[in-house]
Amino acid sequence: MEQQLERVKEILKKYNQEHLLQFWDELSDSQKEFLLNQILSINFDEAHKLYEQGKIDVLDSTTEIEPLPYMNKADFSQKELDFYSHIGKSVIMDGKIGVITLAGGQGSRLGFKGPKGTFELDTKPKISLFEIICNYLKVAISDFGITIPWYIMVSNENYNATLNFFESKNFFGYPREYVTFFIQDDLPIIDTDGKLILEEIYKVKFASNGNGNLFSALRKNNIIDDMRKKNIKWLFVGGVDNVLLDPIDPFFIGLTVESKNLVSSKTLFKEDSTDTSWVFAMKNGKPAIVDCENFVEMLSKIKDKNGRYLYREVNMLAHLFYIDALEKMSNVYIPYHRAFRKSSFVNYEGMKQVPESPNIYKFEQFVFDAFSFFDKITLLRVNRHEEFAPIKDFNGIYNPEIAKKLYEQNVLHIESTDTD
Ligand code: UTP
Repeated sequence: MEQQLERVKEILKKYNQEHLLQFWDELSDSQKEFLLNQILSINFDEAHKLYEQGKIDVLDSTTEIEPLPYMNKADFSQKELDFYSHIGKSVIMDGKIGVITLAGGQGSRLGFKGPKGTFELDTKPKISLFEIICNYLKVAISDFGITIPWYIMVSNENYNATLNFFESKNFFGYPREYVTFFIQDDLPIIDTDGKLILEEIYKVKFASNGNGNLFSALRKNNIIDDMRKKNIKWLFVGGVDNVLLDPIDPFFIGLTVESKNLVSSKTLFKEDSTDTSWVFAMKNGKPAIVDCENFVEMLSKIKDKNGRYLYREVNMLAHLFYIDALEKMSNVYIPYHRAFRKSSFVNYEGMKQVPESPNIYKFEQFVFDAFSFFDKITLLRVNRHEEFAPIKDFNGIYNPEIAKKLYEQNVLHIESTDTD
């Protein structure tokens, strides 16, 4: 251990991170070993680079932004809706659809203890976000006689708790051989002074590195091989927290398949131009999401000659990928974005501190950065009130109370009352 300690001290000195050993003398032997191994596993060059580079998506005068064509579900006739749904149904019934749920996030804004997917809506009876997704999948069993393979991406941090939750709920009655968990990567998080932080006096704090890590996590866990063995052709990719997100949407599937594109995405119309949500556009000739906030506000005001807004399509994390597209993405480098977030830490006195405002940077890859690796994408605008009710925090517009109301109205079809 002495030799290892000397090596670790050298590394920490080089990167100005010597505080990580501040509580060394108070640690047990097993804690010492844990900390040394953890520090030796960190790629400090990469962490330093990510911290320094800041925000990646800087638009300069050479960036060409053009509108990205989209379709609006509301514009389809009943005949067209039926036509594409019919195609989608046959793809589902042929067993060609799999579902990936991105559940590796920390849910830091919600601040709920435990994996976000285990968070329960206050319905009667209560229902967890995982069970809500599972219920959508069960409809495929009852309506199409098909059990959909369900792939759930988790993090090192929440894997055990997620698995235990599924076990304790007997997988909500879903055939467990159709459920596969796989673990994404994580990275150390860094405070505003460029210092890594401690979660415990013997443990450096890590965070999962964004939902865009999906692609390399699929490769590392041999999931694509598994999908191919099952003859799956299309994968629906969605988040864990939108209670109205039905992963098995025959119309969306049929439309995507017919479009002959390898990637598709549902979008929402941005009603308010001052809303800084990132928007879909063609960027340097490739489909992309423009995430430069000042620029987004300006884009949101641009209309075509018929008065149609050109840059108001917002991402709702509901995508279909052809399996070859997933495989291609699993072999390319996806850039990182830097997010400023709140995170508890062990302070210099060895006390756990819970900050009231953001205090750290975490580094995340995003699924949507995959779009630029393709020439085309099918975009379908859907109705926000019917398909979008995510849970992000307790105080903002995406809170559990509103999600519950919309879930009751749209899925349970009961009018919620304010009396109880
Ligand atoms: P968000 O970016 O909203 O993150 O994730 P979050 O974890 O739910 O909440 P905050 O930002 O920490 O408050 C959108 C979806 O992507 C998943 C989340 O689980 C959620 O379903 N995700 C996010 C991952 O799977 N891995 C990650 O590293 C980050």
